[in-house]
Amino acid sequence: MGNQSIAVFPGSFDPLTNGHVDIVERSLKIFDRLVVAVLHNPQKQHLFSVDERVELLKKEFKHYGKRTKVLSFSGLLVDFAKKVDARVIVRGLRAVSDYEYEMQMALMNRHLRQEMETVFLITNERNSYISSTMVKGVAMLGGSVHTLVPRAVEDALLKKLKRKK
Ligand code: PNS
Repeated sequence: MGNQSIAVFPGSFDPLTNGHVDIVERSLKIFDRLVVAVLHNPQKQHLFSVDERVELLKKEFKHYGKRTKVLSFSGLLVDFAKKVDARVIVRGLRAVSDYEYEMQMALMNRHLRQEMETVFLITNERNSYISSTMVKGVAMLGGSVHTLVPRAVEDALLKKLKRKK
């Protein structure tokens, strides 16, 4: 891939929200390619399996063609980033409250791999209150998440929660 700039956008994406979609769009204005990396953590309880999350993301970012790739990863993010040739980690910031955790993670990743840079992108203010956790909570209680997540995610949420009842 020569001198193309490749960044990795990691997350749990349980589920993908409009906030994530916004960060992907913004990242592609800066980097040539973006690897969206879905964390596979068997210790953590997720609503969607890693395969379901990867499928939903693939569907959503398909129109970008080769500029985006959706993969799952386990283990250290810096090891995964090295494998896909990315020297930059992208994370979205919504509010000051995100900062402390993100700063700690960025410094830890730099500690683990010196040349790893983390770039923070500010979400559109319309998305600044959206989190996957809240989306799940609202959907579980029967609230509408229509304007918070992509259509396919809304459908998947409704299907999943109906099945769970
Ligand atoms: O969407 P999230 O849950 O805020 O994403 C967190 C994520 C996946 C970026 C983070 O948990 C992660 O990178 N996990 C992989 C393990 C790792 O590399 N840990 C050391 C750095 S904190």
